[in-house]
Amino acid sequence: MSKYFATTPIYYVNDVPHIGHTYTTVAADVITRFWKQKGYDARLLTGTDEHGAKIAEAAKAHDEEPKEYADKIAAEYKKSWDLLNIDYARFIRTTDEDHLKTAQDFLQKLYDNGAIDAKPRLYEGLYCVSCEKFWKEEDLKEGLCPDHLKPPIKHSEENYYFNLSKYRDQLTELISENKIKVGPHTRKNEILGKLKQGLEDISISRANLEWGIPLPFDPKHTSYVWIEALINYYTYGKPNGIWPADLHLVGKDILWFHSVIWPAMLLAINEELPKEVFAHGFFSINGQKMSKTLGNVIKPADLISKYGVDGTRVVLLAAFPFGEDGDFSFENLDQIYNSHLANGLGNLTARVAKLCENSGFEAKEKVNHFDPEVEKLLGEFKFNEALNWIWKIVQRADQRVNETAPWKLEGIELQEVLDELVSLILDIAFNLQPFMPETSEKILKQFSGSVKSRPSLFPRLNSGS
Ligand code: MSP
Repeated sequence: MSKYFATTPIYYVNDVPHIGHTYTTVAADVITRFWKQKGYDARLLTGTDEHGAKIAEAAKAHDEEPKEYADKIAAEYKKSWDLLNIDYARFIRTTDEDHLKTAQDFLQKLYDNGAIDAKPRLYEGLYCVSCEKFWKEEDLKEGLCPDHLKPPIKHSEENYYFNLSKYRDQLTELISENKIKVGPHTRKNEILGKLKQGLEDISISRANLEWGIPLPFDPKHTSYVWIEALINYYTYGKPNGIWPADLHLVGKDILWFHSVIWPAMLLAINEELPKEVFAHGFFSINGQKMSKTLGNVIKPADLISKYGVDGTRVVLLAAFPFGEDGDFSFENLDQIYNSHLANGLGNLTARVAKLCENSGFEAKEKVNHFDPEVEKLLGEFKFNEALNWIWKIVQRADQRVNETAPWKLEGIELQEVLDELVSLILDIAFNLQPFMPETSEKILKQFSGSVKSRPSLFPRLNSGS
């Protein structure tokens, strides 16, 4: 039984990782670990997207060669994901040899199948380097890119074109009939609405950009970075016999690329299509867009130093519903940490461990399962609801401690109560394991055999610290 989550996108190396990237990656890791725990051979692919004008410019600003610059930033991403205990099957880089070859073979196939025009067309358009995409005049905001609030550059060059328009009806049918499941529902409707308005052919090459993968059929041109980057999923999945992808988990800004352009490219080479594409929302920090200029960029290490690795993974996904936009503030994250981890789970385990230790309690062996509700919610990417459900089990266990007052009991009565409490704790730890792999492991070990007290799992934070 295998599952391929070629999911979390690969990240641009024009800058170091921040909490936005962390959010997608942690979510994808929770999903992967959940399926692994259910006995599947689940694989998660992540990595870095290293070609294109954006990276070439960033490298120049640092007085470095693009590859040299990319090596450094890719290492930062890898380090962050290792720190966060992301269980990826491969960290792919679009500058890896196998990707360069696969991307060129793929592009050649598109060309041979007539999906790319035989000759380039002269194209004039407005290009935003930060998005690495063309904008239509009418979609600009006072002449600026609406996402980056920067003026786009006028491009006039010969570009090769992919005949995307040809796939409109087929894609509409595939998406509306859930053959490619696009979620959440509102986003699926947005995509279908956009398809209804029409679909234009897209330029897939750059004539004046060296930092890219040369088109095999005309090496004077390099591949448009997005087209080549999407192929990364194929570079890893196809030779490893895990094709097609079960899921692409992406931010809403890149859903169009994953639910329309990528499936069309696969249709054009007669390949199997991804089964599902799910988009999460965007978040702001204290009500403001996160940006370097505002100086409010939060890095993974800022979170880890406060909440620990597992705490970070949990507070990020608990803060608001995954498919929606939301806001992060340290007050909010502190509150989640203190109430559910320090006071909730941390307290419960400490309390029950002490009772067990004092009475020399021996825990029975137990087979754990996912709670059906948690299973259902994780299948729908409702991370915060799954966590809320687990916190309710924590509360119930706390209540049972108060009701049964085990410190007043002894003998068989005490044994029965501790059996019940330990069994609840083991359930909780098992259900939390995809979110908190290390802490859950510690709890599962602590509550097996002769239970001993141990130092606090989640030291309490002083609010506002
Ligand atoms: N390199 C492309 C993806 C290529 S996939 C073949 C790219 N990279 S990115 O680094 O700009 O963004 C990667 C992911 O991070 C996207 O899914 C994006 O939605 C997510 N986020 C970046 N900033 C974010 C927020 N402020 N909030 C939530 N997610 C955000 O796009």
